[in-house]
Amino acid sequence: MTILVEQPEFGSQLEEQKFHPDTKELVLDGGFVVPKSVTQDGFVAPEINSFGKSFRDYDAQSERQRTVEEFYRLQHINQTYDFVKRMRQEYGKLNKVEMSIWECCELLNEVVDDSDPDLDEPQIEHLLQTAEAIKKDYPNEDWLHLTALIHDLGKILLLPIFGGLPQWAVVGDTFPLGCAFDESNVHRKYFTENPDYKNPAYNSKNGIYNEGCGLDHVVMSWGHDDFMYLVAKENGTTLPSAALFIIRYHSFYPLHKAGAYTHLMNEDDVENLKWLKIFNKYDLYSKSKVRVDVEKVKPYYQSLIDKMVNLGDEEEIKEEGGL
Ligand SMILES: [Fe+2]
Ligand SMILES: [Fe+2]
Repeated sequence: MTILVEQPEFGSQLEEQKFHPDTKELVLDGGFVVPKSVTQDGFVAPEINSFGKSFRDYDAQSERQRTVEEFYRLQHINQTYDFVKRMRQEYGKLNKVEMSIWECCELLNEVVDDSDPDLDEPQIEHLLQTAEAIKKDYPNEDWLHLTALIHDLGKILLLPIFGGLPQWAVVGDTFPLGCAFDESNVHRKYFTENPDYKNPAYNSKNGIYNEGCGLDHVVMSWGHDDFMYLVAKENGTTLPSAALFIIRYHSFYPLHKAGAYTHLMNEDDVENLKWLKIFNKYDLYSKSKVRVDVEKVKPYYQSLIDKMVNLGDEEEIKEEGGL
């Protein structure tokens, strides 16, 4: 795939991001024992993350957790309906930067996700850990393997060549704008400082939407999910709709974890959500100290890229045209 993105002019206006120049070395499992538990459907899940803590533990007192809470404070205050519309319009143009999928995977090594209490490794490790774990349990669903490989590529928005957006505009759980913020959102208290919170057009259960309208019509908080969805769609990917759904909503934890906002879904969303729930277990629990031999697995994933991702010519890239 060719990724074409316009470099926005507003990056400098946004809050300066925290950059973590990280090691490019693979993180090895130095004899670290990962306890495992088996979920109802037989999925074997480790009980602790890279830091030896429970997964998605947003309350534990640690330096990392304080960073995560501060992240959500900024995210909840700054992600507004108007902000998302502006970002979709700017980034939907996809007409400045061009690179291959694999180059993009390697570029992600420069990124550390401040919102994630479970992961402290180069991102390419996470992509391959997720993809390899799914491949083991779903060997025939090659589209799912490729989806896992590319699902987080949108995090390159954090890098200066893609506009250097602040962490709160790229990562973290996502949620709908234009309707009330559900109780299940993590650190929900900070939404009270969001300008949309007091807007009567946006703060009822359905807000500007009709029940069952379909998530495709819902404006989600801006981040790597929606951006990568735009990139895949506008480059003419042949990935199935379940793959695009996974890419677009994998951070929508209030929906796929807490079951909130289901009144906005249509029948297609209900079907696709089944795959997203499967994917999420691997996205979350593969963040452990398990080494993946990048060079060894690369040929397989390159073959999937060749098979399912079309090359886009710049002339073919169309502007999304807003929501
Ligand atoms: Fe993600
Ligand atoms: Fe992920």
